[in-house]
Amino acid sequence: MENRLCVYPGSFDPVTLGHLDIIERASTMFPQVRVAVLDNPAKHPAFPVEERLAMLRKACKHLPNIKIDSFSGLLVDYMKKSDARIVIRGLRAVTDFEAEFQMAQVNRQISETIETLFLMTSPDYAYISSSVVKQIASFGGDITPFVPACILPDIQTYFHK
Ligand code: PNS
Repeated sequence: MENRLCVYPGSFDPVTLGHLDIIERASTMFPQVRVAVLDNPAKHPAFPVEERLAMLRKACKHLPNIKIDSFSGLLVDYMKKSDARIVIRGLRAVTDFEAEFQMAQVNRQISETIETLFLMTSPDYAYISSSVVKQIASFGGDITPFVPACILPDIQTYFHK
């Protein structure tokens, strides 16, 4: 059977409940899901890649068919190297669509075997983003409704060290 490994790429800076919702739903649809964290210091992430990986590993501990990895460079090259062709992305709202559509088309143009599948984010999480989490945390606000409980201490330590 054709390889049905799917890859969920992103910055995950940090992982949110919205991301986790997509990961959990993908884990019921594919035998194996790889969460691939972009390692690109030029994007100036708040959390170094190792911390983002560690938070994802904690958040996905209950999911046996999820693996956490990082990549740098082009996503399509990572896909080729991993012998994977399905990319999963979450769509929160119409505002996400344009950028996601462009990314999917570009990836398809570079490598015609790549298929991008979109999952609609659950309405409960449609307004959550890593940027919102960072902004609230930086001002000492409560981020409990937005991120997996097991990574709350990591985020709080980061902003109040
Ligand atoms: O969580 P994000 O920041 O929306 O994820 C974006 C990501 C990491 C999926 C995207 O920026 C990416 O794939 N970057 C790798 C570089 C690449 O392949 N670029 C060509 C497609 S636009």
